Amino acid sequence: MEKKVTKKHLITAALPYANGPIHIGHLAGAYLPADIYSRFLKMKGDDVAFICGSDEHGAAITLRAKKEGTTPQAIVDKYHALNAKSFEDFGINFDIFHRTSSKIHHETAQEFFLELEKKGAFTKETREQFYDDEYNQFLADRYVTGTCPKCSSERAYGDQCEKCGSSLNPTDLINPVSTLSGKSPVLRETSHWYLPMGRHEKWLKEWIEEGTLDGKTHHNPKEWRNQVIGQCKSWIDGGLHSRAMTRDLDWGVKVPTKDGEGKVLYVWLDAPIGYISATKEWAAKNNKDWKDYWQNEETDLVHFIGKDNIVFHCIIFPILLKTHTGYNLPVNVPANEFLNLEGDKISTSRDWAVWLHEFNEEFPGKQDVLRYVLCSIAPESKDSEFTWDDFQARNNSELVAIYGNFVNRAAVLINKYYEGTVPELSENNYPEIEKQLQGFAKAINEKLNKKQFRDAQNEAINIARLGNKFLAETEPWKLIKTTPEEVKNILNLSLQIAANCAIALAPFLPSSSTKLSGILGLNQLNWNELGSLSIVKPNTQLGEVEHLFQKIEDDIIVKQKEKLDSKSPSKTSETPIDSFKEDIVFDDFLKLDLRVGTILSAEYIPKSEKLLKFSVDLGSETRTILSGIAKHYSPGEMVGKQVQVIANLPPRKMMGIESQGMILMAENNLGELRLMRPDKKITNGATIN
Ligand code: 2FM
Ligand code: ZN
Repeated sequence: MEKKVTKKHLITAALPYANGPIHIGHLAGAYLPADIYSRFLKMKGDDVAFICGSDEHGAAITLRAKKEGTTPQAIVDKYHALNAKSFEDFGINFDIFHRTSSKIHHETAQEFFLELEKKGAFTKETREQFYDDEYNQFLADRYVTGTCPKCSSERAYGDQCEKCGSSLNPTDLINPVSTLSGKSPVLRETSHWYLPMGRHEKWLKEWIEEGTLDGKTHHNPKEWRNQVIGQCKSWIDGGLHSRAMTRDLDWGVKVPTKDGEGKVLYVWLDAPIGYISATKEWAAKNNKDWKDYWQNEETDLVHFIGKDNIVFHCIIFPILLKTHTGYNLPVNVPANEFLNLEGDKISTSRDWAVWLHEFNEEFPGKQDVLRYVLCSIAPESKDSEFTWDDFQARNNSELVAIYGNFVNRAAVLINKYYEGTVPELSENNYPEIEKQLQGFAKAINEKLNKKQFRDAQNEAINIARLGNKFLAETEPWKLIKTTPEEVKNILNLSLQIAANCAIALAPFLPSSSTKLSGILGLNQLNWNELGSLSIVKPNTQLGEVEHLFQKIEDDIIVKQKEKLDSKSPSKTSETPIDSFKEDIVFDDFLKLDLRVGTILSAEYIPKSEKLLKFSVDLGSETRTILSGIAKHYSPGEMVGKQVQVIANLPPRKMMGIESQGMILMAENNLGELRLMRPDKKITNGATIN
């Protein structure tokens, strides 16, 4: 007899930094889709290792410890425990939630480094870097601020000016200042191990664009998300430069060589190796061989991440894995875009977030509701937005009114007419029901395989819609008086539809499916029965009927909105806004040609995180204008808006594109930008006086 080979999968979710709690943006970005996918595969009977853990290294953790007068270890211990519990309470079913401070991780990362070093993967280079004398440490790019050489903004970072969007090196800044001591840093030479990524351009390009590796088909690039391929292509096409793989720091995985004293492996050579060390730990405890998951070509490796980690997982980590040899490369990296909250970017530093541990506490038993809402609005192809009103509406008018209502009606009728005993299906007079269920089953499988979780969940809820429609059309409460035999058929079928809901929604809403299995008297939900009409067995006694979901009242939502309001940006800024500039004469003001214009089109600029490119109708002419607001507004929300433009500045080139004007914006001390717009529509080209 032919032996059935069980398909193996290794699923990873980005290791969250253990210096803060998890929020809904993290969930929607990586953890929820990863959990849905791995639950689906496990239900199908595949062999899955679902891996995650805390990333416990990095300069941010040491700085936080310093600020709080404690040790980095104490910080990571606290957040590792908090996040592990939040994930568990939320039903994120990792097979392991490991830690990068563990011994096995340090050993694994060091061995990996040494093997790469042996294979000649690195170059060693000495370069000058900013150093803070007071703190006795080299400064990461983001820890140096100063004046932008391009636009003179005084708040530019060492890697980029948020105001004009220019990409910078720390040494480009005028009057550089260390954010640690507030003093000017000094330049010091330091040596690091660099990864010369340019050497890998050719195979990476083939792998990303065509899905081929070493001349063989590796994966289908059509299954990858556009934004993932797009970001990688623009990096590769822009030329891959060497990147330092080590840092001068004493917290992290030590560089295991004599000349590596005082240096640690940088996040790129640390966090993703955490996936490997976590798999080793899990395998050792579960009688498995970790190599079956990392080194067997039949295993599918999929990384779930947010868009800020695309290059890391699609370029840098694959280079490391391939150079090491013996490891699989991912067959897909389904990165999500960002989730915004009530009209603003989620921000840890500003506390503008819905924190998972707080949600778990304030909404006990409602984890499935948040799972449902976050999956419904998952930023799979573009940024999306969470609002408390939408959360309430989706609970009340979808989960309660469609899914919960259908299940409740069917179960209550069985209790009423048959004392809770499932009747026989003696004749199926509704063959279209089975056809439709099979159609849903096919669509859900297809969409889950393609990692289109939003659509898959919607298809699954359609099964409950079908159930409601079926009951409304057949009206068993009327037939019970005239043709009671037919009511048995109808209600049996209704329970089969409910069982299909329980199966199809189990990866998305696991605890509701467990409740529903209890009501239907099912011991186990079998994915392969999806589409079937014989899941619930006749003569089964239904379990106690309980509502799957409860209505969420307005006062709960108002409370959450007030909680957010209390930390809205204007109330959290502590430092004063810039002091006023010196007086000018009125003629100076008259020199400015300020106009109203309408944004005709807006787009992202490849390789720029900050800039958007606009075409603006100024009445007598249409101008191309670049503006550094991509972090604050998406192109979609800008089109059609009227804005204020300075129309007589000399044209300026950024990212190879000429900008013919400047859009006016309000900016506060946190660097938050808001468009200045006329309060009513006015003719394009109107002057502003
Ligand atoms: O960006 C981050 O959140 C880092 N902790 C790295 C996550 S990806 C990784 F685990 F490879
Ligand atoms: Zn600038």
